[in-house]
Amino acid sequence: MAIFLGDALEVVSKLESNSVQVIYLDPPFFSQKRHTLSSKEGKTYDFDDHWNSLSDYTNFMTDRIVECKRVLKDSGTIFLHCDTSAAHHLRLILDNVFGTENFRSEIIWHYKRWSNSKKGLLNAHQTIYFYSKTNKYKFNKIYTDYSATTNLDQITQKRTRKDNNKSGYLQDNDGNVVLDTQKNGVPLSDVWDIPYLNPKAKERTGYPTQKPIHLLKQIINISTDEGDTVLDPFCGSGTSMVAAKLMGREYIGVDISSDAIEITNRRLLHPIESNSELLKKGIDGYKNIDPTKLSLLNYFHAKPIYRNKGLDGFINDSINNKLMGIKIQNNDESIVESFDKFNRALSKKNISTGLLVQTHDDDLKFDFDDITSEKITLIKSPDFILQEVMNRKIY
Ligand SMILES: C[S@@+](CC[C@H](N)C(=O)[O-])C[C@H]1O[C@@H](n2cnc3c(N)ncnc32)[C@H](O)[C@@H]1O
Repeated sequence: MAIFLGDALEVVSKLESNSVQVIYLDPPFFSQKRHTLSSKEGKTYDFDDHWNSLSDYTNFMTDRIVECKRVLKDSGTIFLHCDTSAAHHLRLILDNVFGTENFRSEIIWHYKRWSNSKKGLLNAHQTIYFYSKTNKYKFNKIYTDYSATTNLDQITQKRTRKDNNKSGYLQDNDGNVVLDTQKNGVPLSDVWDIPYLNPKAKERTGYPTQKPIHLLKQIINISTDEGDTVLDPFCGSGTSMVAAKLMGREYIGVDISSDAIEITNRRLLHPIESNSELLKKGIDGYKNIDPTKLSLLNYFHAKPIYRNKGLDGFINDSINNKLMGIKIQNNDESIVESFDKFNRALSKKNISTGLLVQTHDDDLKFDFDDITSEKITLIKSPDFILQEVMNRKIY
């Protein structure tokens, strides 16, 4: 683990060949600007991104990208962060150095912005080019929640290619739909909604163009395992280094600015990561599932679904290798009403088992046996159990 003050080319050219698992580069973007920002303590940081010509810039980048390829392991990958200033030129350089066959993805980092003084479309993304050194590259698949518009059938029913080569739902010989057994969620796409660091974010250092740790964690997560080495030849305030450290990876960082190296070393001593409410809640704002429900679904390791009245999500029942529905009793529902809705939803979707979570007592008395069946298991929410315990106790 090392942080070097110096030029990226000089330092990287001294590293051993085939030694690094992933390289993240966030170089100057050819913005033709000096980037300046101040820390909360009032210290001003800056770095210069002026170039005499475009070819000066592309030559500079080509030399460094070639060296990066040399130090990558055969299973290694590279993520080059850029924006519209020179993205199209950088993509050609990467194609030349790594080969078009090793292009993996163009990741769009999308963030919300509210103001735009210039005429035209609001600029709300940056680009990260993802290439591998060979086709035998390390890649960890990660899954995200289903979107608010996903239909339950899309999740539970097995799909197949029909004779006309169109995708459709698989049916058995009797024409019944065939249910899928296990679902992990939606594989991470190439559009990443991650909030920009807000001015008050705890992790903000005051270094210009600092990226969020969450963004770097996502890259490190898909491209490395614990113990692998992450190299960042333009590490700036050291975001990738902090993310690597937090995730148990080895790290090598380089920057030509002594301020940047000083901040990086300081951050590595006391890594701080901000908590983003926006990230926690998700960009869709969990359209119609309230936060209490959502935390209960998380508690039961359930995947939330959004468009089905009688169902709130489902659980991967790995013991019986099938999907189990889950419903949380609504505040305005009696448990009997809740049960009826859930029962109907499960039958309609051919789901054979479900978990009904009771959240409160209702005035109506019911026979427990009436609302529990082989199909549906009734369980009390932890809050509800706690309330019952407290009601029984006299302190
Ligand atoms: C876009 S910033 C990196 C920001 C960083 N990702 C972060 O989260 O703070 C680009 C960095 O490249 C550095 N830099 C510019 N020319 C360099 C060179 N030849 N070698 C190494 N670093 C260089 C600048 O000092 C600056 O810190």
